This record gives sequence, C-alpha cells and structure tokens, in this order.
Amino acid sequence: MSDSRSLLLVSLSLLAIYPAIAGIVPPVLDNGQRSASSLNPFDTSNYGKLQLDNGLARTPQMGWNSWNFLACNINETVIKETADALISTGLADLGYIYVNIDDCWSSLLRNSKGQLVPDPKTFPSGIKALADYIHGKGLKLGIYSDAGSFTCQVRPGSLYHENDDAELFAYWGVDYLKYDNCYNLGIKPQKRYPPMRDALNSTGRTIFYSICEWGEDDPALWAGKVGNSWRTTDDINDSWASMTTIADLNDKWASYAGPGGWNDPDMLEVGNGGMTYLEYRSHFSIWALMKAPLLIGCDIRNMTAETFEILSNKEVIAVNQDPLGVQGRKVSSAEETGCSQVWAGPLSGGRLVVNLWNRCSNSVTVGAKWEVLGLDTSTSVSVRDLWKHENMAEKVAGALESQVDPHDCKMYILTPTTSHSSI
Ligand code: GLA
Repeated sequence: MSDSRSLLLVSLSLLAIYPAIAGIVPPVLDNGQRSASSLNPFDTSNYGKLQLDNGLARTPQMGWNSWNFLACNINETVIKETADALISTGLADLGYIYVNIDDCWSSLLRNSKGQLVPDPKTFPSGIKALADYIHGKGLKLGIYSDAGSFTCQVRPGSLYHENDDAELFAYWGVDYLKYDNCYNLGIKPQKRYPPMRDALNSTGRTIFYSICEWGEDDPALWAGKVGNSWRTTDDINDSWASMTTIADLNDKWASYAGPGGWNDPDMLEVGNGGMTYLEYRSHFSIWALMKAPLLIGCDIRNMTAETFEILSNKEVIAVNQDPLGVQGRKVSSAEETGCSQVWAGPLSGGRLVVNLWNRCSNSVTVGAKWEVLGLDTSTSVSVRDLWKHENMAEKVAGALESQVDPHDCKMYILTPTTSHSSI
C-alpha cells in the first residue's frame, strides 16, 4: 500500500474513533508544557509515515534487558537463567520474548581479524551458543553496540566497523541490536546510525534495530526511517522523579510513533526497589499507554509477587500491544499543581484508554471530561478498570472521575455504547 493511501486509511479510522484528532471536538490541553508553537498533541500526520519497513515492531518490543539491574555484572549464566525465568514465570507467553544483553559483554579489544570478541571470562561459550540456547526456548537474543569508537563502558564500538559487526551478529544468530551513542567523535547521529541499518539489512537476517541516541538530536524527526525504536531521553533511574520527568519528555514526540517505529523512554525499572508499588504501577501504566517498549529491567529470577502482578497484567499489556499503535498522551493537567493528570489515546475498535494519574502526595480527584478525551458530549461509554480487572459501569456520560491515591494511576478502557451524532 502506498504511503499516502495507508495514511488516508489511518486518518479515516482515527477520525471515526477519535474525533478530537480531526478537530471535531477540540481537545483541551492545559499542561502548561507546550507553547502554542510546539507540537499539536493530537497531530497524527506522521503516524506510520516515517517508519522503517523491515517487518518488525508492528507493536512495541517486549522483553528483558540486563542494564538496569545488572549493569556490567553480566555473564552467560545470568542470561540463561533469565531466559529460563521468562519461560517458567509465563512472562514469555505474555509477549516478553527478547532477552537483551547490554553493555560489557565484549572484550576490551577486537581480535587480530578485527572482530568483536565476547569476554572469555563471562561469556566463555560465546554468543552463538547463547543464541542457540535462547532460540531453543522460543525466545530471541538481543545484543548491544555503539555508534562511536567505544561503548559507554569503553568496549570497542562499531563506528566504521558496521558491516563486519553486523555480519558477525547475524552469524551468531542475534535478533536485536541496541545501538548506543558514546564516544561518537562529534559526528551527527543522522550520519552514524543509517550505516548500521544498511549493514543489518544486507546481512539477510531480520534484526530489530533499537537506536539509543538519548533524544539528543530530536530522533523522532529522523530516526523512523532508520530504526525500529529510538530513545527520546537520557537514561532512566529507579526513582519517581526520573520516571515522571522522562514520561513528560517522551510525550512531546507522540505523533511520530506508529507500527514499525516507536519512541523509547528507556527500559522499565519496575521491581528494582527504588519506587513504591503504586509508583511502579504508574510507571507501567504510562509506559503501556505511551506505546513504549516494555523491556523489563529487574531480576525476574527473584521478583516479588507484586512485581510479577504489575509486569504480567494482560489487560495493560494489551493496551501497549494494541494493533492501532497510536501513542497515548497527556491531554490535561491541573493548571497550577500538575497533580491531577489525564493521559489518553485511541485504541482499535473505537475504544479509548484513559489513565487518571495523581502526580502529587495528597489524594486527589482526577476527572476527564468528554471534550478533553475528544468524545462527543452525547456519547455513553462502558468502563473497564484494568488494575481491578472489573467492569465499572455500563453507561457513563459526560466525564470519568475517580479519587486517586498519591502517585497512583488508574487505567481504564472506555468503549462507546451510544453515540448520538448529529450527522
Ligand atoms: C548508555 C545507555 C544505557 C546503557 C548504558 C550502558 O548510558 O543509554 O541504556 O546501555 O549506556 O553503558
């Protein structure tokens, strides 16, 4: 299908399910973060247009990555045990299929043929054997390199070695490459990232390409043609302040996400201990709504029941993996305090996802009026609570409102039951 035709179809279907996008009911955005000249929050003009068409990332990638919990303390045993745990916990069946090794897997030097070499102390069996093990479990293996002369932990980088390294990754059976931005010699990412895309493509192996350029050169504006996802921010850390800041920064680029290419606000911290249960639930709810990659960053071999409950919430995962693939966004925020926020987005089948998020430390009432959600005022909806796993009400009209505990985020799906359109 041509770009313009597919865009037209998408626009029409969005128009049908989310009239605010077409401006029929102008959305109210009062979060005070965008100037009048900045991006229109309901602009979908870039939806699906820029994305790299390598057949991957039709929905955001799901899996696990070693960095947030282990940093450089990785070895082949931990990676294998994590793959085992993805299977035994059932997380793999829920879609978490990528097992991604981050920085520190390689030796400090290339070999005499100029090839990257797995660290013989920590990966003595080599990456090919590890890939075979992971594939034997029906999972996929990810690896990490850098679009510079070194990785951030000063292992050899792939700049000017793109073809050789991509060939080696493909030979090993790698399915995913996270490509970092350290030691980049001051060369623009628009020059450094495409050669690895081309090198991966010419291997003949289908390899997910995750661009990790930290949002420095506004990657949403160019990386859709280069990779399957692109980091929009600096690194997350395991704190409420970091997580909320990153959510807000990632929101700005919502209109550029779509099947094939996603904004990446960095990996999940759920289960690492720096946030409360409700804060982690907020983190997961907002990442799911934003169509962020769901890459678990904790030790799933030893996770608590609460961590598992969050990561395994099928209804929240289904929002993230919804085939429509439109990134939800912040549609209102209490003017002065920013405490009560409404984040929302369209889903397939004419439904909406709505998150009522309390960003402050007192309990607040968070309300979403229909005009803020882009719903016709005469529309009634049924409401499903995705954390309680309950149908709340059959005919809600005008607004959705709830008392929300400090740092909690309620998550609902609204399904229109009546719409008395004047047309
Ligand atoms: C950068 C990336 C992180 C991680 C580290 C590894 O900081 O943004 O996600 O990969 O490098 O060194």
